[in-house]
Amino acid sequence: MKIGVFDSGLGGLIIARALMEALPQYDYVYYGDTAHVPYGEKTSGRILAYTLDAMRFLINEGCGLIIIACNTATAITLRYLQKRFCPKYAPHVKILGVIIPTVETALQTSTDTIGVVATPATVRSDIYGIELRKIVPAADVISLATPRLVPAIEANDFSGAEQAIAEYIKTFQNVPVLILGCTHYPIVKDLFQKYLPHTRIVAQDDLMGDKLTDYLKRHSEIETKLSRGNTRRFIVSQLSPGYTQVAQKLFPNIQLELF
Ligand code: DGL
Repeated sequence: MKIGVFDSGLGGLIIARALMEALPQYDYVYYGDTAHVPYGEKTSGRILAYTLDAMRFLINEGCGLIIIACNTATAITLRYLQKRFCPKYAPHVKILGVIIPTVETALQTSTDTIGVVATPATVRSDIYGIELRKIVPAADVISLATPRLVPAIEANDFSGAEQAIAEYIKTFQNVPVLILGCTHYPIVKDLFQKYLPHTRIVAQDDLMGDKLTDYLKRHSEIETKLSRGNTRRFIVSQLSPGYTQVAQKLFPNIQLELF
């Protein structure tokens, strides 16, 4: 079986690249729902419907381990997928998200005050607060929706992204650790670090490779079933020359397929 990586769009390619660099031997299928991005501004019902379609698609493509790289989709759907969808419709499939690994990493730096920037839907769900407080009940979690960043990054507008970050970070002065809780934000992690030089910036592309490696070491019943053909497919629900350009920044020889 293959490893599926799902995101609402192309931002998750940065997470996919980190996984492929850490564990190159496996077969990967990336699916980006570019027809419906951004998820971060949508209702929970819409996000669930789109994510379910994506799971069915990846399972049909032969994926037995699926990583939801999208924080918004993880926040809204992971519990349902793990507790209801998989047991009933896909008992051989394991679906993992990005939030628990990120929470574990952030808590290595601070267990007092933890900052989170994410999409409006992720912040509305309070998933980071819920998961952080499960481990450290007294943790002070400061979450801020940062909706100007995804459009700026998608438009390659890094001065717009920097202006937005300069505003947003005012909420996080003296916070020791800041979680970048969105697939797109690793691309601007240096800007966050520039404005918060004394804060540990937790970016998911830095941690997901190690976290998946560790997970597979602990779960040999899954690892031994993964196929090792070193293949990669990148599939999107809407294709445009702009999407190909964005994708080529991360994977220079990428061929995007349309589903
Ligand atoms: N992939 C989304 C996330 O990580 C960001 C883009 C979107 O809003 O769809 O939350």
